[in-house]
Amino acid sequence: MAKVVVVGLGYIGLPTAAMLALSGNDVVGVDIQPKVLEALRSGNIPVREKDLTAIVREATRSGRLQVADCPEIADYFVICVPTPKIGQKADLAAVEAASRSIASSGDINESGQADPRELGADGRA
Ligand SMILES: NC(=O)c1ccc[n+]([C@@H]2O[C@H](COP(=O)([O-])OP(=O)(O)OC[C@H]3O[C@@H](n4cnc5c(N)ncnc54)[C@H](O)[C@@H]3O)[C@@H](O)[C@H]2O)c1
Repeated sequence: MAKVVVVGLGYIGLPTAAMLALSGNDVVGVDIQPKVLEALRSGNIPVREKDLTAIVREATRSGRLQVADCPEIADYFVICVPTPKIGQKADLAAVEAASRSIASSGDINESGQADPRELGADGRA
């Protein structure tokens, strides 16, 4: 199983993180809102969805779901942050911020190149 970082623990990210953990992956859920992290650490689920409280608590009890305020090195990163519409376009500022926080987590080496193990067949990250 893999180490997965899920960035953004809202309506999409929190269930994704919990289900990945319950599938046997080691998951770190990341959010920039301290109140989201505090709620999750105290067993309160900040997202109202049927059955989600039980699922997140089970994932946390399994020891495979942890929360943090910044990403760490992982096999996979899943970005689940807001992309509000501005006119006909999506505002990608949060995606860019999340991407930068992932790049700072250590998977990019000091020369700014992606770790070669992470490159695809076309040589791109
Ligand atoms: N909610 C839905 O039903 C739905 C459906 C389809 C697609 N989407 C898409 O999924 C994406 C996520 O939507 P959502 O509804 O889960 O949003 P949300 O607002 O419920 O949750 C987003 C979370 O991301 C956190 N966040 C923002 N910037 C961050 C950063 N830089 N680093 C870490 N955490 C950060 C916020 O604090 C928040 O907790 C959006 O692109 C949305 O359009 C959502």
